[in-house]
Amino acid sequence: MNIFIFGGTGDLAQRKLLPALYRHFKAARLSSQVKVYGIGSSSLDILSYQQEVKNKLTINLESIEYEESTVNRFLEIISYIKIDFNINKDFDSLKKITSNKDRNLFYLAVSPIFYTLIADSLNNQSIIGSLSSIIVEKPIGNDLQSSIDINESLALYFNESQIFRIDHYLGKEAVQNLLALRFGNILFEKIWSNVAVDHVQITVAETLGLEKRGSYYDQTGAIKDMLQNHLLQILCLVAMEPPTHINSESIRDEKLKVLRSLRPFKANETSDHLVIGQYKDGAINSKTITSYIDEIGVNQESNTETFVALKLWIDNWRWSGVPFFLRTGKRMAEKRSEIVIQFKSVPHNIFDSKSKQKDNQLIIRLQPEESIKLKIMIKKPSASGFHLQELPLDLLFDDYYEDDHLDAYERLLMDIIENKPSLFMRRDEVEEAWRFTDQLVNSISESETSLAKYNAGSWGPSSSDLLIANQNAKWNNEED
Ligand code: BG6
Repeated sequence: MNIFIFGGTGDLAQRKLLPALYRHFKAARLSSQVKVYGIGSSSLDILSYQQEVKNKLTINLESIEYEESTVNRFLEIISYIKIDFNINKDFDSLKKITSNKDRNLFYLAVSPIFYTLIADSLNNQSIIGSLSSIIVEKPIGNDLQSSIDINESLALYFNESQIFRIDHYLGKEAVQNLLALRFGNILFEKIWSNVAVDHVQITVAETLGLEKRGSYYDQTGAIKDMLQNHLLQILCLVAMEPPTHINSESIRDEKLKVLRSLRPFKANETSDHLVIGQYKDGAINSKTITSYIDEIGVNQESNTETFVALKLWIDNWRWSGVPFFLRTGKRMAEKRSEIVIQFKSVPHNIFDSKSKQKDNQLIIRLQPEESIKLKIMIKKPSASGFHLQELPLDLLFDDYYEDDHLDAYERLLMDIIENKPSLFMRRDEVEEAWRFTDQLVNSISESETSLAKYNAGSWGPSSSDLLIANQNAKWNNEED
């Protein structure tokens, strides 16, 4: 098997893909037949590339994972090919080392503008066979039309089952655990609807800024970088109907139905359904942070949003009347990805008014640590009277599984190698998510929604608190 990584000298390859392959190699999960080829436009010989990979592994692996002798053996399966994607003839070198009978994985760790060009050149060299797969990263395109164009061009040479569209959130253990929690327990399913749920919150907050990706990010923004893919995928897993089986098609069919049920945004409703923001300077963990517009690669006049919060409606029987609040942002107070299921009040309070009855809350924390917390009411021990108190049933996964976690890219790469598609996005899902996102983006420009500034290190613009306050609720910003 050959793994060709286009963009082999780039950040994704060096920071995520090669460390993930190294970990598989170290754990003897890679077959001895696997060869990895970094592909890039720089003139590097194989030894220099191997040295670069080694240098980056020292940075990107935990010191406990890095074993000199294993790294040296790993480098032996790594090679380098110089290809300028614009020069068709450069692809000859691929033809020389492989044929369309081999299992070839073409991983496009490059900007989507090269996807079509590379697929055409691979086809011209006749090295795409029935055993080949192509792997592309989110965002697939920049809007619905460009995503259709990319999908069309890949479909010319690859069947849908040969195309792996990555949203790395689907490779996260915690995200998959949502399926176990929802469909491996009878407990939640019966109340997982408008019968008992008041509203749902999904937060993906980052403390990171642009990480040297200013020019990409300034063209993209939080809506297209995070909401269109990661947040909508989480939303689908939270809201979907039980699939008939844990196989790729059943799950993807159910996710698609959720996307199709999303109520389109209307320009005249944006003011009470949406907040966009951009960070200004501030501090995170006592470290001074410069404002977004002063980041390298960002236009000083930029109106790109680094934060978005919105109220969404899923128009189906299960979720009718239940708002979903989603928010994501850069340079926020904490790195935190979580889902909060806020349950309704009990129908009739039998306790006296001094006893503070609180509504149940299920908090599913995806990052940085994985946990499930159910807040319930208990009777506080006392000599007299009957006083209620809220306490958590708390399940912290690290208490049970210490070192068993595969990183998202490790899991996804193994699934690609083993040809298992369930954790990847199907074409119709991606396009449906773009359809919703395009409508959202259009309603923002039609309504001329203004960009609210927020301090780096905060939980976003104060207007996002108002958005949820209208539901008599507030974002879960509580410290643990
Ligand atoms: C990527 C986005 O898809 O996800 C980045 O392009 C973002 O902007 C990253 O920082 C967040 O991923 P994670 O795994 O760190 O939550």
